[in-house]
Amino acid sequence: MEISLIKAGPDRLKKKPGDNDNLNFGDIFTDHMFVMDYKEGVGWHNARITPYGSFQIDPAAMGIHYAQEVFEGLKAYMGKNGDIYLFRPEENIKRFNASATRVCMPDVDENIFMEGMKKVVLLDREWIPKNRGTSLYIRPAMFATEPHLGVRPSKEYIFFIILSPVGNYYKEGLNPVKIYVEDKYVRAAVGGIGEAKTGGNYAASLLASEEAKGKGFTQVLWLDAAEREYVDEVGTMNMFFLINDEVLTAPLTGSVLRGITRDSVIRLCRDWGIWVSERKLSIYEILDAAKSGRLKEAFGTGTAAVISPVGQITFKNEDHIVAGGKMGEVSQRLYNELIGIQYGIKEDPYGWRVKIN
Ligand code: COI
Repeated sequence: MEISLIKAGPDRLKKKPGDNDNLNFGDIFTDHMFVMDYKEGVGWHNARITPYGSFQIDPAAMGIHYAQEVFEGLKAYMGKNGDIYLFRPEENIKRFNASATRVCMPDVDENIFMEGMKKVVLLDREWIPKNRGTSLYIRPAMFATEPHLGVRPSKEYIFFIILSPVGNYYKEGLNPVKIYVEDKYVRAAVGGIGEAKTGGNYAASLLASEEAKGKGFTQVLWLDAAEREYVDEVGTMNMFFLINDEVLTAPLTGSVLRGITRDSVIRLCRDWGIWVSERKLSIYEILDAAKSGRLKEAFGTGTAAVISPVGQITFKNEDHIVAGGKMGEVSQRLYNELIGIQYGIKEDPYGWRVKIN
């Protein structure tokens, strides 16, 4: 499929942030976006790069009413000598289509997805920030546009990719975050949509997050829906715990996002000779380890969060300080390795880095 291009005229070009400007996560967007339409019987058509702008949507569009929506998150990194890299983008595309299948949306052709993404990133390459820890966040998304109110899959969709120059996801940066173990609300149940990257999961997390933020926490740690005991994830990141010499993380049972950073971290740890177990993790086991000094580190992983150390875990009003409230050695090593690969500073024996220019 051809991708048509309408460039933003000089009057529509926006002011880019300067090298010294603080970049919050997800506040500003570049000059262009990639868009494509779908209609049952026609398939995907009208692939185009256009100036960044609003969509005109029918108030009866099914995506607004029944949350048929999926998205992804990945980043473009500015390397040395102006090289531009993506990190394991084919994994995001696969996960996007898996999420789409879960909520009865059409697949997006992997080649056109990749081509559209590379083209729009290269067109807006001047927006990729250069400072270490900053990047151009890429947000592909799809939602249902057919005007109809019966509950069934839509017959029409829009797929689009927008770009946002970002810094750290959390205001804490690389400083450890404080996590509240949620014992009132539930994010996802096995058999539900927890594994899909669909807006509903994030809507389900908002009230708990707001309440936790009100108490001074950065995020909540979700427990399983059935027993309210086993660790799932932290909504914006997968969770890892270093107990003695073993790295532990929750298994992919359907209620946890299949994190690409999660997968990369498991691979790195195993290659470094660190034992990694993906198994059911009782919150009581983790807190017992914290009390007895065996919990050496805790950290979250995600595209936006990268490696985010956890310095405090609070459960039922009991605070547990982890790694003396500092970033631990393994977390720091993982961060350095991932960032090194992503920015083209370190060797990439895994072939994770994709140079696009
Ligand atoms: C990401 O890490 O890309 C995410 O999707 C997390 C969040 C910003 C929704």
